[in-house]
Amino acid sequence: MQRAADVLRRSKTIVFFSGAGISAESGIPTFRDKLTGLWAKHDPQRLETADAFRDNPALVWGWYLWRRHQVSGAKPNAAHLCIPRFQDAGWEVSVITQNIDDLHERAGSLDVVHVHGSLMGAKCFACHRPGELTPDQLRVSEEGQWIEPPRCEHCNERLRPGVVWFKEKMPEDAWRSAVRLVRDCDVLISVGTSGVVMPAAGIPEMALAAGAAVIHVNLEEVGWVGADEIMLKGSAGVVLPELLLAVGGGDNVTA
Ligand code: APR
Repeated sequence: MQRAADVLRRSKTIVFFSGAGISAESGIPTFRDKLTGLWAKHDPQRLETADAFRDNPALVWGWYLWRRHQVSGAKPNAAHLCIPRFQDAGWEVSVITQNIDDLHERAGSLDVVHVHGSLMGAKCFACHRPGELTPDQLRVSEEGQWIEPPRCEHCNERLRPGVVWFKEKMPEDAWRSAVRLVRDCDVLISVGTSGVVMPAAGIPEMALAAGAAVIHVNLEEVGWVGADEIMLKGSAGVVLPELLLAVGGGDNVTA
């Protein structure tokens, strides 16, 4: 913690790179958690594919509507809330997230790049144009249900969630912004990501190659940690407020 605080004190720009672990304490399950209820017999990694949508659009659309519903009932936790506080304390702060929830924005972060898209958007499966959803089309029961997706107003094909699925490319503008931020930062703080899904998982290596220091915050050791890397083991909602306190960034942050 002391070493991480020293590195931060010598830096001006911080990029936070977040994964599902940062939202776990807000009650959003990570990708390695087992699904429950209606979804128990499904593998989330299989549901997040164009093939699954082609095979059963109502299952996949229902699953994403249910996740959107889950996120809208969740609140940002201390880890999300800490990030804009680093900005208040004088650092230049940006967020690159693999998460499709909007908890960073709701915690007050202004500069958030979503490299895997967002649960809040929809687009046409065929013509890719964005689609608007009415409140009626967003309604879903507590435990979730299969729901036939609405149709695109331009080509009448099905709308799909505005997220990046396995085997799909990331949105080019988001990826370009992410690379620019990573190459220009002094410190990258990687929070709650297993680092297994490329190319986003390569972001810490990209930061190291550009001369930045990398701080990992995770419940578990995240592989080999080199000379310019620091591992802060623990839950993000505890470790980030401690780090903020250690650099003199004001009172303790709680959700
Ligand atoms: N605090 C810190 N770390 C945590 C916490 C917590 N409270 N809870 C879990 N973690 C860590 C886990 O130890 C794990 O390393 O968060 C990580 C979550 O890993 P994943 O579920 O694999 O999430 P992520 O890395 O975001 O996945 C990347 O995979 O399925 C795709 O597109 C999806 O964006 C996602 C990508």
